[in-house]
Amino acid sequence: MTLALHKAEPDAIGCWEDGFQFWPVVINVPDGLEGACAGIARREGRLRLKALCPGFLVASKTSSERLTEAMRNAPTWSFGSFVLASTLPPGDRLSSEAIDKITSDLNSVIDQFQLQGRSYWLNCPATESDVARKLRGMLLQRRDLAIINNPSNYSLTIRLATDGAKVHVLIGPSISIKRRFAYRRRDVGASINPVLAAAMVRLAPPVRSGLALDPTCGSGTLLAERLAYSDEDTALGIDLSAEAGEAFQANLQQGVGSGQFRFRLGDGADRELWQPCQTVLANLPFGIRLRVPRPELEALYAAIMNNSARFLAADGRVVLTSSFKGGLDHAIAAAGDSIRVLSRYKAKMGGLFYQILVATKA
Ligand SMILES: C[S@@+](CC[C@H](N)C(=O)[O-])C[C@H]1O[C@@H](n2cnc3c(N)ncnc32)[C@H](O)[C@@H]1O
Repeated sequence: MTLALHKAEPDAIGCWEDGFQFWPVVINVPDGLEGACAGIARREGRLRLKALCPGFLVASKTSSERLTEAMRNAPTWSFGSFVLASTLPPGDRLSSEAIDKITSDLNSVIDQFQLQGRSYWLNCPATESDVARKLRGMLLQRRDLAIINNPSNYSLTIRLATDGAKVHVLIGPSISIKRRFAYRRRDVGASINPVLAAAMVRLAPPVRSGLALDPTCGSGTLLAERLAYSDEDTALGIDLSAEAGEAFQANLQQGVGSGQFRFRLGDGADRELWQPCQTVLANLPFGIRLRVPRPELEALYAAIMNNSARFLAADGRVVLTSSFKGGLDHAIAAAGDSIRVLSRYKAKMGGLFYQILVATKA
């Protein structure tokens, strides 16, 4: 993940003007949602992107105003935008020539965009390959890179990304999660990553009015992202926990977009709390931390699916995610032929697999 959690230098993205005819633009999206995000990019930004490696899409055209915009303001459903500065070919044993070439390629990008003297963070998650991690160590030792490594205060991110064989060296503006998702003042324990939420809400087509409902809403991230994207006029969040209700109110009392946000304390399975809706979105509870017996979770998932079948508009969508795949399968079976599954995805994030299910009324 390339979320910038540290303080960014001021005017971090100001200098990414045109110049992408030399380097392809790469967008870092949730791993497993590459196809879905390529579709979103086409619809929302008229960008043509294809897969580069897990979690990364590359523009198939270079140089355009739309790519410049994507560099300056990375889409909310992405972890950031980069240019592809260099690639270590498969089988390269990190010879000194190869490291010289990568350094020189990075310095060319730095020159083009006038980034000299700026601070950077070199992001190579532990999940990347051994070669990538070794390359990271070697790059950090270089004294001839025209930017400064400062992981506590930086405006640039160098990201190493692998597809198992090649290592891609990417560089781009760091983005501040606090600035992008400013409404998120409070969290609950298992809050969904907002980038994943922003991608997930786009798996249901935007609508012009109606209600978006989250029966296990926590701090309300999915509803906030949905109303930032689509024009439902109201969002209704239900949660068992009063603490979640407080987080929801703290985050959403001032609204996001033009919609209204309402919270109901109670069980998301309870159909008395539901209302006719256009969209159902939920990051369902799961995991051993929860200490809820499997049959109870299955019953909750099934009730939420059955409530969706009952309350959804004919052209409405239900978009559910959970790491508990068996629970989602159980819910689909329980709904029988009242629900039609449109698509399923598996996104990898923070060491977990998020199963994502998109369905409609049959
Ligand atoms: C995985 S979290 C969802 C987090 C939320 N998407 C967010 O970003 O804050 C699951 C939430 O489900 C709630 N929950 C658990 N069982 C529930 C139930 N039966 N009815 C309603 N909410 C429930 C928990 O209190 C928790 O806030």
